[in-house]
Amino acid sequence: MKIDILTLFPNMFQALNESMLGKAQEKNLLQINICDFRQYSNDKHHHVDDTPYGGGAGMLLQPQPFYRAVDAINQDDAGPKRVILLDPAGQRFDQQLAQELAQEQHLVFLCGHYEGFDYRIEQLATDRVSIGDFVLTGGEMAAMMMIDATARFIPGVLGNGQSAYSDSFAQDLLEYPQYTRPAEYRGMKVPDVLLSGNHQKIAQWRHEQALKRTWLQRPDLLAQAALSSEDQQFLEKLNQPRQK
Ligand code: ADE
Repeated sequence: MKIDILTLFPNMFQALNESMLGKAQEKNLLQINICDFRQYSNDKHHHVDDTPYGGGAGMLLQPQPFYRAVDAINQDDAGPKRVILLDPAGQRFDQQLAQELAQEQHLVFLCGHYEGFDYRIEQLATDRVSIGDFVLTGGEMAAMMMIDATARFIPGVLGNGQSAYSDSFAQDLLEYPQYTRPAEYRGMKVPDVLLSGNHQKIAQWRHEQALKRTWLQRPDLLAQAALSSEDQQFLEKLNQPRQK
């Protein structure tokens, strides 16, 4: 997958060279190109922002450097691409969107900064995406989070045949708790069932724990989860007030 990132702060993206994403680039599964779009400013001082028409506080990013930078990317590769504007007012990013973006050949991220951007920049984007209901100082960290979550779905990025498809959220449930050695630590014991060797029981316990965790921590997810009648019964039991 090819990824172009348009930003005024290229150094922020050092983190993409570490860990799994660094390895994915070495293996050529991911090709990340970071572009300081200031170079596409027509202004003699390379300014990229200006005051809003109609008045008001702050400066807005101008359309022209973004449009020219995307023109250059299109000239280089005329193939289909998703152009993603990081925007707190955009569609909420989630695991499903990560999975969908992982099917694409080419992603372009537009990172805004300062107080905002000219509305015409929205028209350059195929997608406007927010990573949550809070406002960051710029789109850079949001883009990095999206790239990380998306790259995990590209075959070969995760090691040892691991799959992003078995993670929390993959089946609309949070992941069950996991344990490794030692079997007891500071009085906290690994549940007996995990030491039993009974794979059917282990699978059932894990599924119930995933249901219970989701019920406790993210009940909103249960509304959209595909639940069997056994699952419903299990949840009904959890919902009953405790017996004295
Ligand atoms: N830019 C500023 N805040 C953001 C957010 N929450 N998501 C995406 N981009 C942003």
